[in-house]
Amino acid sequence: MTLSNESSEVRNEPARPDLSGKWSHVDACLNEWLVPADPVMTEVLANNARAALPPIDVAPNQGKLLHLLAKIQGARSILEIGTLGGYSTIWLARALPEDGKIVTLEYDPHHAETARQNLSQAGVSHLVDVRVGEALGSLEQLYAEGAGPFDLIFIDADKPNNPEYFKWALKLSRPGSLIIGDNVIRDGEVANPHSEDPRVQGVRTFLELIAAEPRVTATALQTVGSKGYDGFVLALVTA
Ligand SMILES: C[S@@+](CC[C@H](N)C(=O)[O-])C[C@H]1O[C@@H](n2cnc3c(N)ncnc32)[C@H](O)[C@@H]1O
Repeated sequence: MTLSNESSEVRNEPARPDLSGKWSHVDACLNEWLVPADPVMTEVLANNARAALPPIDVAPNQGKLLHLLAKIQGARSILEIGTLGGYSTIWLARALPEDGKIVTLEYDPHHAETARQNLSQAGVSHLVDVRVGEALGSLEQLYAEGAGPFDLIFIDADKPNNPEYFKWALKLSRPGSLIIGDNVIRDGEVANPHSEDPRVQGVRTFLELIAAEPRVTATALQTVGSKGYDGFVLALVTA
């Protein structure tokens, strides 16, 4: 299946008002009401900043969504592609039972080391296996080890590789597994078939593969907030 958006493609659109301040303010309210500040998470983000990691972790309310999805799923085993400083990893790990496991894949050794510090600080190190290296190689290794099937797979690394990550996610899943892909809207550019951004083309091909895959049923949502205009895709493996 090929995504065809010629009719809905927005070209020469008038300048939109900048609503990012409003989105961030609403996110701050939602977080104050529903995701109260947690000293551990605050320290994790501070540690990431001290370590000069880019602030591209999920937002607190998005982390809580991942946590709730893992809980709803009754997840005991989770695979995360893209660790950074382990912020989303901690949200996911906190949804696991004491004998649960999350494997998280990270290319950058400095990110992985910072994540290990944060996971220890959060008291979840015993639940998490941080694997350093190119995710495609780590996925092949996991498959060769007979790892999985995972109950939940969160794809949040280099977007050009999303199509390959989705193929591995299917191999490492079972009927009932949930696959979540972050950052698939990319400021609306996902609807632009002419985008020359390899990340946009990566998420477009990712969505095409999901749409054409009979073993999953999926939806995607646009989101706005403190992290801008983006969104995620949710795919349930059915067969
Ligand atoms: C968006 S960040 C992950 C954010 C994290 N999930 C969170 O919300 O806290 C993406 C991470 O993927 C890592 N990454 C990028 N390309 C990778 C690759 N080919 N293999 C493994 N990790 C990769 C980056 O180094 C970065 O730390």
